[in-house]
Amino acid sequence: MTIPNITIAIDGYSSTGKSSFAKLVSKEFSFLYLDSGAMYRAVTFFAQENALINADNIIDTTALKAALENLEVHFEHSDKGCVTYIADRCVEKEIRSMAVSSQVSPVSALAFVRNWVDARLHAMAEQGCVVMDGRDIGTTVFPDAELKIFMIAKDEVRAQRRFDELKAKGDNPDYEEVLNNLRERDYIDSHREASPLRRADDAFVLDNSDMSLHEEIVWIHGLIQGKFGILE
Ligand code: DC
Repeated sequence: MTIPNITIAIDGYSSTGKSSFAKLVSKEFSFLYLDSGAMYRAVTFFAQENALINADNIIDTTALKAALENLEVHFEHSDKGCVTYIADRCVEKEIRSMAVSSQVSPVSALAFVRNWVDARLHAMAEQGCVVMDGRDIGTTVFPDAELKIFMIAKDEVRAQRRFDELKAKGDNPDYEEVLNNLRERDYIDSHREASPLRRADDAFVLDNSDMSLHEEIVWIHGLIQGKFGILE
């Protein structure tokens, strides 16, 4: 299916499968995939490595703000999707760790961090048609996105997916810890002052608790046909 030059914004709770879906959508329609959560994860990892955040989530905001002026985070795109780099160092594995997951919400709640990420997402989106996933893409980053999707799934299904993902990467996760982490992140993400996670009024809800990725793709084809009046 050939679709018009549009921006697709995919938001939703943690581990609802936003990035797997967004990656597939990018392949299906030849769109550029941008993983906004990876930017927040990279900033968090950078803060941890440079001791700008402590175990109690106290952040040295003055130092972090100054450091962001010189921080260079970018994505490299391949068959594997969108791989995250800090300067020339690939940090894709590091930013997916539980250590980063457990501190990314307080870091991403800082308005200056959000502004820093948003500016970079806007610059990258200038490269063409993009599909972007996150928490506030359809509400704040690209409020005019032509197609907005809000993903939800049952907590236990989400925790199991994240657990499997960590295991596959060679970690030794604890299911309860994973479940609690994602509930806690959802709470912080939806209650923060700076662009909280919420469904945009014009976003279509996708509950994929019992759906395969193939069914999700069939779903978006139907959505696009209906919304843009395209015949296959
Ligand atoms: O999608 P993810 O789990 O990789 O995102 C990591 C964290 O980044 C998530 O807990 C909240 C934050 N985030 C955000 O605040 N806004 C976005 N657009 C994307 C992610």
